[in-house]
Amino acid sequence: MDVLWAPARDAYQRHIFRLGHYGAHRNCNVGGRAVLRRTPAKRSICWTALWLFNIATALGSITLDSGLSNGSQEYREWIFPVYAFLVGAILCSAVVVFSTIAKRRDREIYIGNWYIAGGFIFISMIAVTALLPGYQKGLGQVAVQGFYIHNAVGMWFTFLGLGVTYYVLPKLLNKPIYSYSLGVLGFWTQLLFYPMIGAHHFEFSPLPWWIQTLAVIFSIGMIVPVWAAVGNFWMTMNGQWSTIRRSYALPFIWVGVISYFFGSTQGSIEAVRELQAIWHFTNFTVGHSHLTMYGFVTFVAWGGIYALLPAATNRQPNLVFTGLHFWCALLGVSLYVISLTIAGTLQGLTWASGSPFVASLAAAQPYWLSRAVAGTLMFASHIFFAYNVYLMTFAPQRAAQLRSAAASGGVAPART
Ligand code: HEM
Ligand code: HEM
Repeated sequence: MDVLWAPARDAYQRHIFRLGHYGAHRNCNVGGRAVLRRTPAKRSICWTALWLFNIATALGSITLDSGLSNGSQEYREWIFPVYAFLVGAILCSAVVVFSTIAKRRDREIYIGNWYIAGGFIFISMIAVTALLPGYQKGLGQVAVQGFYIHNAVGMWFTFLGLGVTYYVLPKLLNKPIYSYSLGVLGFWTQLLFYPMIGAHHFEFSPLPWWIQTLAVIFSIGMIVPVWAAVGNFWMTMNGQWSTIRRSYALPFIWVGVISYFFGSTQGSIEAVRELQAIWHFTNFTVGHSHLTMYGFVTFVAWGGIYALLPAATNRQPNLVFTGLHFWCALLGVSLYVISLTIAGTLQGLTWASGSPFVASLAAAQPYWLSRAVAGTLMFASHIFFAYNVYLMTFAPQRAAQLRSAAASGGVAPART
């Protein structure tokens, strides 16, 4: 299955990663493009990072498709040489992000950059831990696996997603973030709770019981940073609904924020032992994965790209295609999550009732049909998005587009 979804996951990792670069520059009040133009060395590091990332993704897909993998190490299935390209890409990007933050003009580090910088610090720790030779098998492997899985989604994808939201939302709404203090509270409480919750992936396993209990308690504690961030974004958006409706980037961010709220709150609830006893190993988890990774991270990445790419290239996307992209992706992921949530619950209840395994297949079957429809909608939305990326990157510019880009100062597209 990893072969199926790893390329999609990696593609969005790449997007959120590039947005992290750009956001870090702008958050520092130094101007992303200006910095890159003035320092050719840094520009070449950015290009190196981009190539390393693309090579890693291509080689990773080819090797996995050919059956070459790092055994059953979930989310680090790439063989070591491929992984090395990814580590190189992350290191190059970290150099750019940190040297830019060091050169900032303001004394304060803007909250968006706390998250982006934090993501880079954490990913290095996670990557090193994942490679420690003593923890590649046995119970140590399980403990490290839990640490690795959840910090990869929580301290890398989520940190970059939140960093991008903290940058894009105030920028497009042209108003400051509602509360800096809520941002700081969210950041530190996430740092407190998240690193310890990985064992909730292995409840009822031979891992020490107290580690599992701690993971459940801290999973519930995650409500604090999640609600702090969502409350902050919501209050920033409050009263701006007409601007959001007219924009083509902000609705993606809006969906991202809502999904972050529901997906993470769902995570806190599903970590409770009595519920894990039903939902673990079922499709419910896959529904949760997509509500968060797709509904939150991917939507925020799309919002960031629609906000920033036209500003960088002076080229606009096609509005009809943007609408189709948004609605197909939103309907698709909603149907996907609802179908798998019901299917997973039925599977878990059937297994718990002691019925034959085949009964759980029969119970889930209709929901797998709607999952297929949902997946087709999601796939179609990606085609519309790909065409828009072409328009925003390579399409010949029309005079009207240039005028509208010039009118908006080349900073934000006219309709955001
Ligand atoms: C912040 C609060 C969150 C909590 C308490 C939480 C809790 C959980 C739990 C308990 C599971 C295990 C389900 C099982 O194996 O039965 C899980 C799985 C998962 N979560 Fe979350 N979650 C949270 C947020 C997120 C976010 C923000 C993301 C993505 C950015 C995410 C991505 C995933 C993924 C991909 C899995 C599946 C892992 C696997 O393949 O086994 N979660 N989560
Ligand atoms: C067209 C869009 C997509 C479709 C149709 C799709 C479908 C699927 C399917 C069928 C699985 C395997 C589920 C299983 O083992 O039963 C899966 C797993 C997964 N996908 Fe997607 N996916 C899509 C996009 C994405 C994207 C963009 C991301 C990340 C940003 C993502 C993240 C994941 C993760 C983390 C898992 C593992 C979940 C787990 O084991 O709990 N997917 N996906």
